[in-house]
Amino acid sequence: MAAVNLGVVLILCEALVIVKTQFLEQPRDTTAAAGANVTLFCIFDLTYDAGGEEFIQITSRWLRDGTEVIVTNEDRYSYSDAEYYKTGDHSIDIQALQLDIDDAEFYCQWQQQGSLNPESGRISLTVLMEPQSVTISQIANASSPDDTLQFACVSNSSKPAANISWSLNEEDITSDSQATEEPGFIEKTFTTKSILSHVFSSDDDEKTLRCHVYIHDDLTAIDKSETLYLSETVVISSTNKPTSDGVIVLAEQKLVMNCDANGYPEPFYTWMYDDAEYQSTGTINELVIEPIAFQDSGSYSCQATSVFGDYKSTNTMNVIVAVPPEDVTMTMDGDAVEEDSVTLTADEHVVCCTASKGFPEGTVEWQLDGTAIDGAVTLHDSEDDGTVTDIEVENIFEKGLDGRAHKMS
Ligand SMILES: *[C@@H]1O[C@H](CO)[C@@H](O)[C@H](O)[C@H]1NC(C)=O
Ligand SMILES: *[C@@H]1O[C@H](CO)[C@@H](O)[C@H](O)[C@H]1NC(C)=O
Ligand SMILES: *[C@@H]1O[C@H](CO)[C@@H](O)[C@H](O)[C@H]1NC(C)=O
Ligand SMILES: *[C@@H]1O[C@H](CO)[C@@H](O)[C@H](O)[C@H]1NC(C)=O
Repeated sequence: MAAVNLGVVLILCEALVIVKTQFLEQPRDTTAAAGANVTLFCIFDLTYDAGGEEFIQITSRWLRDGTEVIVTNEDRYSYSDAEYYKTGDHSIDIQALQLDIDDAEFYCQWQQQGSLNPESGRISLTVLMEPQSVTISQIANASSPDDTLQFACVSNSSKPAANISWSLNEEDITSDSQATEEPGFIEKTFTTKSILSHVFSSDDDEKTLRCHVYIHDDLTAIDKSETLYLSETVVISSTNKPTSDGVIVLAEQKLVMNCDANGYPEPFYTWMYDDAEYQSTGTINELVIEPIAFQDSGSYSCQATSVFGDYKSTNTMNVIVAVPPEDVTMTMDGDAVEEDSVTLTADEHVVCCTASKGFPEGTVEWQLDGTAIDGAVTLHDSEDDGTVTDIEVENIFEKGLDGRAHKMS
């Protein structure tokens, strides 16, 4: 009982103190966006306690975070009333608010020689800052088998911290998100990151995923959105040397194929070789085979898969792996020739060139002293491993002429 009575007495005392004041108007808590202009009020009653005089001469001081501000020395600060020392209106205008300097605690004091320095209440000037950027992104590899997709929405460096909400078309799905706050890269700001983990279904195809960033009533809210989809058109392509229906690449070299699909988020890519599953490259739409072997020749296709669809490429890529002949031999009149050319004596000869196990079929050209000669018969023999051996036979009748026959491949 006694404690309750004491409380009532204290409140009465406080009320009595507030009644007597030298201030006609004191500064008030003020909130404004960076770049805005504000006025902090401080108007003194010059007749108060004038001791019989009509009014008293006073000087005033402004303090910002406990340190005196010399108003006339500050670029963006000025007295609202140039005659402030006569009128008692010591209010200040601050132009183009800056978060780093102006976001602070302020108060004004009156100074009169030989007296106490009464001071106004301490107030906060809060400078609001729009985020420097707002981004929405898919979190890599987040297309999990249970169709949960993860997205991040980041409001980078705002004041105060952002409140991020999520929607899918009109449906509010904020409850599937979790936000974290950390200091922004600008002093006194906050970076807010909200991660959405939502189970999507094929019904959500073509829906709009939106992240809504709210900072403060005085700042415009920011929306970022992405349409979720997977396009039906998927095409396989390659940067290797084209043929009429695919590409050709030399054995031991690099084959690069791309699966061109359009979708958000990025689908998963699966590669097929002769219609059987060959490899999955996750959300990377490129398949590289290096070094490529003759056995990798064949027909490739690809497939793009996401919760919003599953589409196979409309085309296939026929890959030819070229193999140089394992060895090339030449015979003349049935005898092996060691060098790559032979000296003929003026007579009738049968020369034969065999290029074994190459791919695709080769052609052999003959030259006699630098002049192409033709009329050769080419035989192609398929080997068990799919390579081809080319045999080229030339009958040369060059009576009275010596020369050299060269094989070219
Ligand atoms: C702030 O005041 C200055 C000077 O009066 C003026 O030029 C400027 O446009 C004002 N800025 C805003 C945001 O009102
Ligand atoms: C990426 O996938 C792996 C394997 O499924 C998983 O362990 C990991 O948590 C996933 N990362 C993210 C960010 O979801
Ligand atoms: C915020 O922006 C700054 C400057 O552009 C950048 O360095 C920083 O990485 C960003 N923070 C986040 C969480 O994206
Ligand atoms: C964020 O915004 C939502 C709706 O706009 C509101 O219900 C919620 O209270 C806000 N959260 C915070 C922390 O301000």
